[in-house]
Amino acid sequence: MADHDPPTDANTPLPALWHYLANLKGDDREAWRLADIPDRPSADERELPKDYPFGWYVIDYSDELAVGELKPIRYFGQELALWRGDDGVARVIDAYCAHFGANMAHGGKVTGNYLECPFHAWRYDGEGAVKEIPYAKVIPPQARRKDCVPSWPTQEINGMIWIWYHPERVAPLWELEVFEEVGHPDWTPFKKFEWNVFSCMENVSENGIDISHFKYVHGAPTVPDYKISYDGIRRSVRADITLTTPRGFVDGAINVRSIGPGQAWARFSGLSETMLVSGNTPIDRDCVKIRFAFIQPKSEAGSRLAAGLIADICNQLDQDKVIFDRHKRIEPPLVCDGDGPFGRNRVFYNQFLVQPRPTKMRAA
Ligand code: FES
Ligand SMILES: [Fe+2]
Repeated sequence: MADHDPPTDANTPLPALWHYLANLKGDDREAWRLADIPDRPSADERELPKDYPFGWYVIDYSDELAVGELKPIRYFGQELALWRGDDGVARVIDAYCAHFGANMAHGGKVTGNYLECPFHAWRYDGEGAVKEIPYAKVIPPQARRKDCVPSWPTQEINGMIWIWYHPERVAPLWELEVFEEVGHPDWTPFKKFEWNVFSCMENVSENGIDISHFKYVHGAPTVPDYKISYDGIRRSVRADITLTTPRGFVDGAINVRSIGPGQAWARFSGLSETMLVSGNTPIDRDCVKIRFAFIQPKSEAGSRLAAGLIADICNQLDQDKVIFDRHKRIEPPLVCDGDGPFGRNRVFYNQFLVQPRPTKMRAA
């Protein structure tokens, strides 16, 4: 494959893809991270789960939704409408109008704090109740109820907009973690990156505990020392690593934490103090949106090392994406003694599923 040819096919050999990636810079690489991959095998063929884990999920950045703005969004295989009312509050309801099914996110508009359907101008509040029908004398009682069009619990925390997903519409079961560093005057604003990874949440979530892949996918000289712990809905992974830098070898540490399936953050220390605020959100059975937002202390942010660290972390996710985009879900996988704690991790993950899945591994 010539360097300028895009890897447009799901069957492109991986070494060719990695070679292509190594030469892909700037805007081209950003476009590659979001581009569709034609000719993918179906989600059924790849045995990707039909359900989604419940939890809080990031759907946008706060500074990318203006007052009065309406956006069509798609997550959990559903069309949704996101808008910000005149009062500054972000709201999310299903996109399809209960009247005649227009997709309100396309062509609708924000009127005060309400979402107005483009078809016959019914107006909904953030709880999915119809509050005004400009041409009717009476609003039908069913339309006046909350969740006439299903609504989504919505919050803004850490400069991001989050919705709560539960397949049975159970109310939120935990709180999001709040970071005082985000928006703090001593820390930089977000440096944002995003990917569409054509896989399921479960496969992506196992990346952090998949110890052996660091050597084979990311080229780490050794398998790093790891400590993985679980506490209820929280997971924490700490790795002590030796980084190769222009200053020589530097001892560093990575602390990755998560709450539920959708909220994760990492602190890097040693090379350059960096915080990564991230979120994974399923778009469809075979597509996960990954957002990485980096902040650094302003005192360190200008350095080449600080920029290099961010570039390296993103490059690692690019390398993972190449695998994930073509991954099948194996339940249970066939594991060996050098693998990370996949069984324990699947026990942890099961708590976010209405229908738990097998967790016993097949041993080699
Ligand atoms: S379809 Fe929405 S108002 Fe008629
Ligand atoms: Fe990885």
